Amino acid sequence: MTAVASLRAVAAEFPVLAREIGGYPITYLDSAATSQTPQPVIDAMTRYYTHSRASIHRGVYPLAIEATDLYEGARRRIAEWLGSTPEETIFAANATAAINLVAYSWGRQNVHRGDLVVLTEMEHHSNIVPWQLLCQDREAELAYVPVLEDGKLDLDSLDTLLERGPRLVAFVHVSNVLGTINPVAEVARRAHEAGALVLVDGTQAVPQLPLDLRDLDADFYVWTGHKAYGPTGIGVLHGRRELLEEMPPFIGGGHMIRTVAANESTWIDLPWKFEAGTSQIAEAIGLGAAVDWIGAIGMDAIRSHEETLATRALELLADVPGLVVHGPASAADRGALVSFSLDGAHPHDIGEILGREGVCVRAGHHCAQPLMRKLGVAATTRASFAVHNTEADLQRLVDGLGSVRRTLRLS
Ligand SMILES: Cc1ncc(COP(=O)(O)O)c(C=O)c1O
Repeated sequence: MTAVASLRAVAAEFPVLAREIGGYPITYLDSAATSQTPQPVIDAMTRYYTHSRASIHRGVYPLAIEATDLYEGARRRIAEWLGSTPEETIFAANATAAINLVAYSWGRQNVHRGDLVVLTEMEHHSNIVPWQLLCQDREAELAYVPVLEDGKLDLDSLDTLLERGPRLVAFVHVSNVLGTINPVAEVARRAHEAGALVLVDGTQAVPQLPLDLRDLDADFYVWTGHKAYGPTGIGVLHGRRELLEEMPPFIGGGHMIRTVAANESTWIDLPWKFEAGTSQIAEAIGLGAAVDWIGAIGMDAIRSHEETLATRALELLADVPGLVVHGPASAADRGALVSFSLDGAHPHDIGEILGREGVCVRAGHHCAQPLMRKLGVAATTRASFAVHNTEADLQRLVDGLGSVRRTLRLS
């Protein structure tokens, strides 16, 4: 199959992309907000609901054993795909819940009055607010590594902050606004030398980059299923076993206990200690199917395709009068997204006018208000790419920006 034919075949696996809205085909450029779902993922979840539905882990009848195998099989394949282990792969509701798990469970045991937690100026609110709550509770301090003009982290300032011996450095792998790919292994090395632990928000990175968590050496790595061609309602925390063993449960209830007495309980082993209540069974099975699907295409192929799209997007957008792209100049340094400002146009107007022509982009602060302040804007427009996008989609974006300019009478 030629590259174009195989791309068409990939795009054909997303049922929603066959739709038209208002007479226009859907040009979906919002995968950084949530990706679309390929048919094999939908099928895997439907199969569970139609053929294999039962609660997992405690049932001893064949249907329950089958459902348990599907759920734990998904965990095994997800762990293996990222170079982790099943015991160190914990399912949570989303990336936000996974970060909160660490902030509450690890944080309340290990962060004390006067301690320092280091974040960066390019964090999503999910990787800010849990640490604010922790630091307020513990009377600890938060500090931020600045973002430089070129959209990269100021690693000299990181070193200065590391001299103060922080407990944790928490930062994003691929920025959902700037697209910046941060040097995770290098930051982790420096943080570890300074005695700090490292949490990485891999929400945008996991669907975009070939990854082996062993190479990154983060202590905690979190991501979310719905941006990785999987269902909503599921995220993943990978953590170092020794740390997870020592951490107390975050949420208590059924499924996570070994014994319960009137006044105290004991916990079962990893990873279930952190999975209280009935699990997201269909969602885990769907996410397992998503990583099978991505794995069959190959992360190297996905990265190469999306880097080509990002390069082309930067070229095309450079020709739009009054348009400024935020973030690194080179596609090699950025993930599959481009945020921009258009002189004289509010991002919401841009998003709405593009939307009338079927072009779906995100307009707003992208849950990154501190970064918006740093950039000196209230909001940006963001186009983000996935494996199904093509150069034709980019052309529709640029044509749509022509409509924006005409509608808003921009000179
Ligand atoms: C970089 C980043 N981190 C975290 C999140 C939060 O993901 P979720 O809402 O699935 O928890 C997002 C979602 O937009 C994101 O882009």
